[in-house]
Amino acid sequence: MKFFIDTANLSQIKEANDLGILDGVTTNPSLMAKEGIVGEKAIRDHYTAICNIVTEGDVSAEVLSTTYDEMVAEAQELIKIAKNIVVKVPCTLEGIKAIKKLTTMGIKTNCTLVFSVGQSLLAAKAGATYVSPFVGRIDDISSEGVDLVQAIVEMYEYYGFATQVLAASIRSTGDIIRCMNVGADVITAPLSSITKLVNHPLTDIGMDIFNEATKKMRG
Ligand code: E4P
Repeated sequence: MKFFIDTANLSQIKEANDLGILDGVTTNPSLMAKEGIVGEKAIRDHYTAICNIVTEGDVSAEVLSTTYDEMVAEAQELIKIAKNIVVKVPCTLEGIKAIKKLTTMGIKTNCTLVFSVGQSLLAAKAGATYVSPFVGRIDDISSEGVDLVQAIVEMYEYYGFATQVLAASIRSTGDIIRCMNVGADVITAPLSSITKLVNHPLTDIGMDIFNEATKKMRG
């Protein structure tokens, strides 16, 4: 199971990368705007900075255009930034068509804004490298985001699709565990949800006991 960090914040990406367990990064226009990135040059520079931190793992950079021709052209520019850029494309008909084209060009893609098994089927048929079901946003409308992750995992397994299921819109450590339990290939989460995985009161109690013993042993 791969861990991606879901942010465009450079210090958080560095902190996660320094842990040694980071497999990639996902960004989206909202996350980029939150970092104050404005204009073509700033966008390119920011993706360059991210790829200078995470040099091997996949870094999803989302297209900003919405038509097939524009998305394909934009993707070709994005992949020039670094060898580990994955082009994130929305799950629209134009997007599916663009994913198919980019796949035939050997460009890795992440089909985003996925909220149904039907959408995930189109993404896989188009050859997407990743499909991103949005767990938290489904939970927000009183449904079960993790159920969608499970349905996609099972459908891909049944038909032997190579597209990896990237559970996105993760809001908590519990979401990570639930997505892991249903077989997500990748989860992308905020840094805080990833680091909280380490928390356990028995570990804290155990550390207190060992630290006391350490003091005695050191004399
Ligand atoms: C990542 O690929 C998605 O864009 C992101 O997880 C969406 O998260 P949100 O629903 O919290 O905006």
